[in-house]
Amino acid sequence: MLNVDRISVRRGKALVLRDISLSLEPRRTLAVVGESGAGKSTLIAAILGLVPCARGHVTWSGAPLGSARPSLVMQEPRSAFNPQLSLRRSVLEACVAQGLAPDTRRLERLCDGLELTSDLLDRRPFEVSIGQVQRIGILRALIAAPPLVLFDEPLSALDAVTQKHTARLIADLQAEEGFAALVVTHDLGYAAAYADDIAVLRAGKIEEIGATKAFVAAPQTAYGRTLRDAAFALGALERVA
Ligand SMILES: Nc1ncnc2c1ncn2[C@@H]1O[C@H](COP(=O)(O)OP(=O)(O)OP(=O)(O)O)[C@@H](O)[C@H]1O
Ligand SMILES: [Mg+2]
Repeated sequence: MLNVDRISVRRGKALVLRDISLSLEPRRTLAVVGESGAGKSTLIAAILGLVPCARGHVTWSGAPLGSARPSLVMQEPRSAFNPQLSLRRSVLEACVAQGLAPDTRRLERLCDGLELTSDLLDRRPFEVSIGQVQRIGILRALIAAPPLVLFDEPLSALDAVTQKHTARLIADLQAEEGFAALVVTHDLGYAAAYADDIAVLRAGKIEEIGATKAFVAAPQTAYGRTLRDAAFALGALERVA
């Protein structure tokens, strides 16, 4: 289980995350929503130890998080890959990094679910579309069957139909394998459909955190209500009775 215990993060002179606590159990999905610049990507970086915490700590079942072999789907998919390498090589290196032999059947299954043809993997990152490289980023994150996956806007470059298929693939695999998922998203419709809990981040602080159903029915803060009502107005989120 992931435990984020009262972390604060500085970037330059500014405190960009303040006193953040959350926990996430296997099989569960936590969506992190909130305005641009709120600190969502910084939260992921801090969880992974890519930026230092000025205070607090992050653990996985009481041990340092590295022991969990977490994987990351980065917000900017193309820059997440080495431009010199074929995408296949980058994906397979994710297995090698975990000391695993590449599992061809798993690779085929994930490619099918993500609607990626094999020839795409033989190209380099700038030789495929952004939506394709975004899905290959998801493939790379899932190939080694991690216990924790951190997704930063994983569907942002995809059309609505591909979003739906990709979200389904992630959810099906999670149901089978039981990984914990933290998903940063601007799409409250996606969060409502797939996340057990929602955390609303604003200016580096958690405004509210709790069960998705309760949030959609009655946000606890004015900012939470603004976000929910904007999603209602866009038709991105359905009202619940
Ligand atoms: N290296 C840095 N030095 C100083 N400030 C930084 C640095 N990186 C990020 N920040 C600032 O930290 C804050 C949080 O940034 P972050 O990338 O976490 O936002 P975000 O919630 O992911 O936004 P978006 O939805 O636009 O991706 C922003 O104000 C940003 O300008
Ligand atoms: Mg971000």
